Amino acid sequence: MASRDQNSKKNTNLLNPKNLPCNNSFLFLTLICFGSLYLLFSALKNSNKTIISSTGKHENLEFKPSSSSSTSSVCDYTKGSWIYDPNGITKRYDNTCKEIFKGWNCISSNKSNAYDIIKWRWQPNQCNLPQFDPVRFLKQFSNTNIGFVGDSLNRNMFVSLVCSLKQVSNEVKKWRPAGSDRGYTFLRYNLTVAYHRTNLLARYGRWSANENGGVLESLGYKEGFRVDVDVPEGTWAEAPSFHDILILNTGHWWWAPSKFDPIKSPMLFFEKGLPVIPPILPDLGLDMALNNMISYVERVMRPGGIKFFRTQSPRHFEGGDWDQGGSCQRSKPISEDKVEELFSLENNGTNVEARLVNQHLYRALKTSSFRILDITGLSEFRADAHPSYAGGKKHVDCMHWCLPGITDTWNDLLLAYLSDI
Ligand SMILES: *[C@@H]1O[C@H](CO)[C@@H](O)[C@H](O)[C@H]1NC(C)=O
Ligand SMILES: *[C@@H]1O[C@H](CO)[C@@H](O)[C@H](O)[C@H]1NC(C)=O
Ligand SMILES: *[C@@H]1O[C@H](CO)[C@@H](O)[C@H](O)[C@H]1NC(C)=O
Repeated sequence: MASRDQNSKKNTNLLNPKNLPCNNSFLFLTLICFGSLYLLFSALKNSNKTIISSTGKHENLEFKPSSSSSTSSVCDYTKGSWIYDPNGITKRYDNTCKEIFKGWNCISSNKSNAYDIIKWRWQPNQCNLPQFDPVRFLKQFSNTNIGFVGDSLNRNMFVSLVCSLKQVSNEVKKWRPAGSDRGYTFLRYNLTVAYHRTNLLARYGRWSANENGGVLESLGYKEGFRVDVDVPEGTWAEAPSFHDILILNTGHWWWAPSKFDPIKSPMLFFEKGLPVIPPILPDLGLDMALNNMISYVERVMRPGGIKFFRTQSPRHFEGGDWDQGGSCQRSKPISEDKVEELFSLENNGTNVEARLVNQHLYRALKTSSFRILDITGLSEFRADAHPSYAGGKKHVDCMHWCLPGITDTWNDLLLAYLSDI
């Protein structure tokens, strides 16, 4: 009652004949004046709307509430810690997934902590990283093509996604779309996931001196690798026009002196078909290749396609590099202090290339429309999650990741970013 009284009092004041140009009988006045006020207000409202849409702000206004109410879009998933949470994690697949490369199947090869690796959950500081829901993923990305383009670490992430999805939907066609190394179509959902193998993104091949000479020959080069910084490798050149979502990476091979030996078989960079003179070192070659490959994707990507660049995956060699007796024998994630010791640029340790590569990536991506899938920081803690001696190779593997394992979390992150778009 009280509020009604207040309202009527207010109305009475508003409708005071002295304040309004309505001068007839009180009842008539009331009706007319309410009517004109209503018209006046709706006119104001409409004119507001018109102004907003004519200045082009209308759309912003309409979309703002939904995006600002989504707290996840402001959450930084990359800062956080690993929590030991054996019961909080639902198993998505196990060692029976046939896609797992033998050297990464730490359960089958009896790595002592193989079952423990996935009992750690990544907990961002400000929010939760939702756990991967394969059924939701299949539905959300039906009629979609997703391409992983990059080195074996991107294959590791691709395998994690395929195994997670196969667990709930096994009507799968295996094929090789658009030059890929391997791909799967989840038939019930028409979702295709493919892996395009490329180490440098840019095309490269063996180079040897020409008998007739040339500018590189005159500088004394005899053997090496020709890297065409402006030509995408054929394995993925078609990927941007085929896929709706792309996840690119490169990094490890630019710091791989065993293949690209700076003396015996150096990288020799070419642009527009001609050698880059004076010859440059791989770190500058990486910048040239990144700039060219990023603008290539922006030019040829499907309209509306979503482009991610994944940051560098850290290695965890301690006590020497892979060819100097280094190993990774930890059974738990390492502390923040240890992370800094292993990876800080100042310490310039064995695995320093992780953050070095990222410096190049961030610089090249700054002015691009790529989204950055930053997995480096959260992975730096996981010295326990590499195949180590269980990789079955001549050398200890402290570079790739056991599956199931850390690249499952990378896919959680991918899905969280995709859901925020
Ligand atoms: C792992 O352990 C099982 C059971 O002890 C054994 O049968 C198998 O050969 C082992 N695998 C490897 C790769 O050592
Ligand atoms: C399956 O998805 C692809 C990629 O989006 C699309 O081009 C194609 O038309 C889809 N096929 C069917 C039968 O919907
Ligand atoms: C980092 O260490 C390597 C050898 O381990 C050395 O060749 C290089 O010059 C060092 N870089 C810096 C910036 O100190």
